[in-house]
Amino acid sequence: EALTVAVAERIDSTNSQLMQHATSSDLHGLVLAAELQTAGRGRLGRRWQMRLGSGLTFSLLWRFDKGLAGLAGLSLAVGVALARALRVLGAPVTLKWPNDVLLDGRKLAGILIELSGEAMGPAAVVIGIGLNLQLPGEVDQPVAALDQAGVRVGRNALLAALLNELQQVLDAFAKQGFAAVREEWLALSAHRDSPVRLSFSHGEPIEGIARGVADDGALEVETAAGMQRFHVGEVSLRAL
Ligand code: BTN
Repeated sequence: EALTVAVAERIDSTNSQLMQHATSSDLHGLVLAAELQTAGRGRLGRRWQMRLGSGLTFSLLWRFDKGLAGLAGLSLAVGVALARALRVLGAPVTLKWPNDVLLDGRKLAGILIELSGEAMGPAAVVIGIGLNLQLPGEVDQPVAALDQAGVRVGRNALLAALLNELQQVLDAFAKQGFAAVREEWLALSAHRDSPVRLSFSHGEPIEGIARGVADDGALEVETAAGMQRFHVGEVSLRAL
């Protein structure tokens, strides 16, 4: 089934724009890419900034028959789709829970998923992706760019490759949920069996060994208090 791709020269945020149309049922599969975002957003209320021409920024609107309750692990599944496409292009990327794409341990791409819908009824999601092609200027965390992996690919071809894998993974996810790609996610995981620190918006950080992910995408960490599960939300992970 074909996706429709629209490209904006300059826009506040491709996620914000698609979220405004998230409930209209005929827009399933609409992709909005932007040359420049003036108010790009990241996870946990952060900003996402990218210089003109130095990256790929786009969002995809997708509708599921199942409600929000059935979408646990979606952000991890999206990471698997991106990793598949990037590895075919020659970039040996890995995944960091919940949904960063890493190159040489540094962040190459980020994913921002926003949901609209009810717990039970059909849900619409906006899947936003920002990927560095060339290294940006000052940023507050270690970042990587695709050209560092020696990958020479045009933005149109890259977008097509990513969308192709996304479509396949999202179709599989619609039927089987995160379980469809869980093993693949584990094989791509950057921190499996490594010491990590989890920070929360409230409370003390927790340290342990990242062991795996559950069928709902929860991270399983072996701590002094035993195996604990953490859900995607107000938590961020750091390797120790
Ligand atoms: C993160 O790593 O925190 C997620 C970054 C997601 C950025 C993309 S760029 C396209 C889409 N539009 C936005 O405003 N954000 C996402």
